Amino acid sequence: MESVAEMQRRAKKRLPPSVYSALIAGSERGNTYDDNMAAFGELGFAPHVAGHAAVRDQSTTVMGQHISMPVIISPTGVQAVDPDGEVAVARAAAARGTIMGLSSFASKSVEDVAAVNSQTLFQVYWLGTREEMVARMERAKAAGAVGMILTLDWSFSYGRDWGSPAIPETMNLAAMAKFAPEGLIRPAWLYKFAKSGRIPDLTTPNILPAGAPQPPTFFGAYGMWQQTPPPSWEDIAWLRAQWDGPFMLKGISRVDDARRAVDAGFSAISVSNHGGNNLDGTPATIRMLPAVAEAVGDEIEVLLDGGIRRGSDVVKAVALGARAVMIGRAYLWGLAANGQAGVENVFDVLRMGVDSALLGMGKSSIADLRPDDIVVPDGFVRALGADVDQAARTL
Ligand SMILES: Cc1cc2nc3c(=O)[nH]c(=O)nc-3n(C[C@H](O)[C@H](O)[C@H](O)COP(=O)(O)O)c2cc1C
Repeated sequence: MESVAEMQRRAKKRLPPSVYSALIAGSERGNTYDDNMAAFGELGFAPHVAGHAAVRDQSTTVMGQHISMPVIISPTGVQAVDPDGEVAVARAAAARGTIMGLSSFASKSVEDVAAVNSQTLFQVYWLGTREEMVARMERAKAAGAVGMILTLDWSFSYGRDWGSPAIPETMNLAAMAKFAPEGLIRPAWLYKFAKSGRIPDLTTPNILPAGAPQPPTFFGAYGMWQQTPPPSWEDIAWLRAQWDGPFMLKGISRVDDARRAVDAGFSAISVSNHGGNNLDGTPATIRMLPAVAEAVGDEIEVLLDGGIRRGSDVVKAVALGARAVMIGRAYLWGLAANGQAGVENVFDVLRMGVDSALLGMGKSSIADLRPDDIVVPDGFVRALGADVDQAARTL
């Protein structure tokens, strides 16, 4: 497999149409979803032709973890596109020497996932009571999670112009009968589940304490989340203080919010718009990154996620101030197309792409990348909240 696009085509061929469309997701017009990818295409390189380094280094650290390349797994919910789901993804990330981000809406337990990847970060939402949130984090710690991610960029946006797939509440016999025609046109996918003796799992085992008799379904957990009043910055600082290790705040768009994340004591932020699944009209993350990195890059680790589909995208993000990037759909396509091996393949495609871009630019390491290595057209950057941040600091 030579590209993530090819992996996506294979995933599309293999998955039942409704499952494929649940991974495409997006919201409303899909402007943000499209712009996340298209914006990378507006950026360019200025290559050298001689004096190149024979060996190029991609290793770095994120939240205290040494990783072999500047790409980590972004948490995504219910990876029931493969019987091994999140465990397969975590194994692939471990095999390629990088971090697994596990969603609290995952279909596999944090115990099973942390057991196969010692660099697991557990992702939470502001969901339930304070006691429940603390219990969720304590469970993750006991399981071996080495850091936390709090995702904040979700506003329960509803509706897509291309329609949303009907996802059953649980995969019982009635639901399976309804989905049977879709399964029959995708026999390889159905066969893999049949062979594993399992059915696609739509429960969320990490929402309640370990051993709770009945884990909520995806929609049950979603309902609990919708009923939880949204947090203030004081609430967020409180949550951060409940974990005595590295903590990332995911979903930053604005410079002033990035600074508040620093003030609340976070160790990392991800400039993210939830892969375009949330508030449609939010600019591409790569447009928002430079201003955020310039404002707080010396005080907190800045990552980016959204639209990464090739190694050169990774290099552009790192040059413009990201310490590393997080990938979402790219590995979901790999998982859907070929399980753990498919995800490893995606990492390899990205690693080779990073290496080739470094070679072309005459760099021996990702640490040598600078903003002026990238051709940034006029008007590309969106410095959201930068004026507000400046005004607050000159008061
Ligand atoms: C199907 C799907 C489910 C997701 N679920 C979660 C989630 O549970 N928690 C979270 O923090 N982000 C979630 N995300 C967002 C990803 O972590 C990431 O921000 C996004 O996918 C990055 O964009 P990309 O897919 O273009 O790489 C999800 C994204 C997708 C596509």
